[in-house]
Amino acid sequence: MTDRRAFLKTSAVAFSALALSRTSPVIASGGGGYIGIVYTKDNPGKWAKKVASHAPVVNVVGSKVTVETKHGMSEAHFIVRHTLVLADGVVVGAKTFTAKDKPVSTYTLPQGYKGTLYATSFCNLHDFWLTEVTV
Ligand SMILES: [Fe+2]
Repeated sequence: MTDRRAFLKTSAVAFSALALSRTSPVIASGGGGYIGIVYTKDNPGKWAKKVASHAPVVNVVGSKVTVETKHGMSEAHFIVRHTLVLADGVVVGAKTFTAKDKPVSTYTLPQGYKGTLYATSFCNLHDFWLTEVTV
């Protein structure tokens, strides 16, 4: 039981660090510090040919945010989940998909929010992708 609690605590701390730190070692860096956990348009690592179909596309109109992954959906290969996270680590929302869904999700920002948004998309075969936008 103690090991499980320690694992959960460590996982929560790691996720918070990921959400809050632009210099986290798990996020690709412009200096080539790619490690291979989070993929982005600018740092796709081993998935360089997968950027267009995996990096989430973020569209913001007022307080409405639409996240889309331009990816096909089949039982063998699909987008599993989107999340939208604010700069302070607050999760605005998340949507889990089945192979029958279209990988599009919509969110509403807190009133008057200005700052960075982190949109994530997870493919069951091509890992975890992040797109950062500023509103
Ligand atoms: Fe994929």
